[in-house]
Amino acid sequence: MKTKAAVEVGKGNTKTIASDENGAIKKFMFPSAVRLEAHGALSSFRASHEANHHELFPIIDGTPFCVSTRPNQKIPDHKRSAPNDDFQASKAHDALLASALHVTGLRRVDVLVVGAPIETYQKHASRLKTLVGTLDFGLGRMIEVARTLVLPQTFGSLLAAKNEHVLERDEHVNHCVIDPGYFSTDILTTKGLRIDDARSFGFAFGTAAVYQKIADMLSAELRMPVSDLDRIEYSLRSSAAYWVHGRNINLRPYLDKVEPHIEALVIDIYGRLGGTEDISSILLTGGGSALYERAVRKVFHSSRVTLMPDPIHANARGYLIAGQAAAL
Ligand SMILES: Nc1ncnc2c1ncn2[C@@H]1O[C@H](COP(=O)(O)OP(=O)(O)OP(=O)(O)O)[C@@H](O)[C@H]1O
Ligand SMILES: [Mg+2]
Repeated sequence: MKTKAAVEVGKGNTKTIASDENGAIKKFMFPSAVRLEAHGALSSFRASHEANHHELFPIIDGTPFCVSTRPNQKIPDHKRSAPNDDFQASKAHDALLASALHVTGLRRVDVLVVGAPIETYQKHASRLKTLVGTLDFGLGRMIEVARTLVLPQTFGSLLAAKNEHVLERDEHVNHCVIDPGYFSTDILTTKGLRIDDARSFGFAFGTAAVYQKIADMLSAELRMPVSDLDRIEYSLRSSAAYWVHGRNINLRPYLDKVEPHIEALVIDIYGRLGGTEDISSILLTGGGSALYERAVRKVFHSSRVTLMPDPIHANARGYLIAGQAAAL
C-alpha cells in the first residue's frame, strides 16, 4: 500500500496524520514553536538526555533549529512566527514540516499533502509543491517524497466533513467553513460543488489575539507584565488553575469581557459574505472552534451551525483523504 503523510503546519500547532505501508494510521501534534539552536557547551548532553528526547534539531539550508514535538507544553524561548511573516516560505516553517515528517517514522512518502492559508495560497502553493525528492533535514534519516499536493488549508476540513457525513454532499447546498486558528481565521464558501472564490478569504485575527487581550487586562489590573499566552490558553482549555505573579485567577470572567472582540470579527465575516440566504450551513473547524462558537451561533443565528468533530485535526484528515485519492 502507498504511504501518505498529511501535514498541516499551522502557525499555532503542527498537525500530522500518516498512513504507512499497511494502511495503519497515526496522528501527531506539537506546538509550532521553533527556535534557532545554539551550539552551547551542553548541546550534546541535552540531545542525549532522557528529558529531551522529544526535541528535534532539523537543519534548514545550513541553519540549525530546535523543535519540541511534545504536545501542550510551555516552552520558554520558543517563538511562534508572527502573523505578518511570510510563514509558509520561512525556514521555521520548513523546520516544523521536517519534524512532522520525521515523527511519522516513514522513510518513503508516496504522497505528501500539505496546506497553505487561503489568503496566501497563490503565493505559496508553487514553492510547497517543489518539496519532493530525497529530503535531508539533518535528522539522521533521509525521507523520499515522491509527490506533493498543496491544498488550501480549510478545504481539508470541507473534504473531511463530507467524507465523515458531517455535511451533505448535495450539489444544491452551499456551505461556509470557518476555521479559526492561532493567528488567523480562514473562511471558505462553496457554491454547489465548487469553491466560491469571492467569498473565501482570511483574517489576521486568531485565538492568540483573544489571549493577548486577556493578558493585557490582567497586566493592567495587576500592574505587572503578563506575556505568557500559552499558560492562559492551557488554563482556559483545560479548566486548570491559572497562577500569575503568585495569584490564582479565574479566567472565565475575562473570557466574557473579550467576547465582544470575537463577535466583532464574526460580524466582519458575516459582512464579507454579503448575506447568508443561500448558505445552508456554517461549519466551524480548527483549534479555535470552541472559543468562537458562542459568537458564531449569535451572529449566524438564522443558519445551521455545525461543529466539526476533533476540529484541530480536521484539515489534516481532509488532506489524508486527498492523498488517498491521489495514491490510487
Ligand atoms: N490539544 C490541543 N493542543 C493545543 N491547542 C489546542 C488543543 N485543542 C484545541 N486547541 C486550540 O487550538 C488553537 C489553535 O488552533 P489551530 O491549531 O487550528 O491553529 P493553527 O492552524 O496552528 O493556526 P493558524 O490557522 O493561524 O495558522 C489554540 O488556541 C488552542 O486553544
Ligand atoms: Mg489553521
